[in-house]
Amino acid sequence: MQPLSNYQTIIAEHFNQISLKKEPKGLYEPIKYILDLGGKRMRPVLTLMSADIFNADLKSALPAATAVEVFHNFSLIHDDIMDDAPLRRGNETVHEKWDLNTGILSGDAMLILAYQFFEAYEPHIFQQLAKLFGKTALEVCEGQQYDVDFETRDDVTIPEYLKMIEYKTAVLVAAAMKMGAIVAETSEENANLIYDFGLNLGIAFQLQDDYLDAFGDPKTFGKQVGGDIIENKKTFLYLKAIEFGTTEQKEQLLHLFSIQPTDNTDKIESVKQLFVETTAADATRQAIQNFTQKAFSTLEKIEIESTKKEMLKNFGEQLMNRNV
Ligand code: IPE
Ligand code: IPE
Ligand code: MG
Ligand code: MG
Ligand code: MG
Repeated sequence: MQPLSNYQTIIAEHFNQISLKKEPKGLYEPIKYILDLGGKRMRPVLTLMSADIFNADLKSALPAATAVEVFHNFSLIHDDIMDDAPLRRGNETVHEKWDLNTGILSGDAMLILAYQFFEAYEPHIFQQLAKLFGKTALEVCEGQQYDVDFETRDDVTIPEYLKMIEYKTAVLVAAAMKMGAIVAETSEENANLIYDFGLNLGIAFQLQDDYLDAFGDPKTFGKQVGGDIIENKKTFLYLKAIEFGTTEQKEQLLHLFSIQPTDNTDKIESVKQLFVETTAADATRQAIQNFTQKAFSTLEKIEIESTKKEMLKNFGEQLMNRNV
């Protein structure tokens, strides 16, 4: 095992030396742009950590780690189009800097590039990775469609919301970890347990993402604060506010989520206030803790040295305390 920063350095150096075809520029420049913006790169780090935990050579996990991160970045380009988001990682989103068609096609190309990174593997590993990747990528699309469908529904339940975030976000975190296990050729049981760990961590991660979308600091968050409120997203915060609110608070919230003002400042402030007053904000922080703990309890079932478990726990705790 290595300190977390080592994995991050390996990934950063690897992404620095990836060379993309240069022409046509209109296709490849946006790809380079989004990849160079970097982000936390937590998914490829998790692939490396998982490979390391199950005693694989880290280098052998790099193509899978790269595939996962390139796929993630593709999903961000298309997600920002779907969410009408102006900012990503503190910079203009691809469709804002270029245009809609650029975002669509550069995104498509990245999905294909992601698949190509698996070509580095021998057939028996390739097959397992490609199968997991295909299943995961389709689930992400399903999750994204639910997310959009929920914008115009007012009867979304907490179980439906949890399924939606499991699909749009958690399955990729889980798959990133399982890929490390596949490359390491560990037991199927270990591979499934690390998948479960990643899945619960991923659910906690998306809950935290929703929380930060409302309560993050605009100076550091890197995305438009209040973006989910503008888009009437049925987040955990919203659903809990509806559940806990008085009749009056509920009516206010339903009203606020039915209007589309040209200036959203007041809408965002009022909704955030309701999230706090109804204790939905507290309930969300609690849920983040609960899913993180659930991930940690899965970890206990995996037969690996306790130092390795500690390392994954530290990572989980850092995620929970992030502000980006
Ligand atoms: C953003 O993912 C999309 C979600 C699934 C919440 P990250 O928060 O990992 O974004 P980057 O890659 O660090 O920018
Ligand atoms: C993103 O969910 C999930 C995927 C990109 C598949 P969000 O829409 O909440 O992600 P951010 O907040 O824009 O990063
Ligand atoms: Mg989004
Ligand atoms: Mg979205
Ligand atoms: Mg979000």
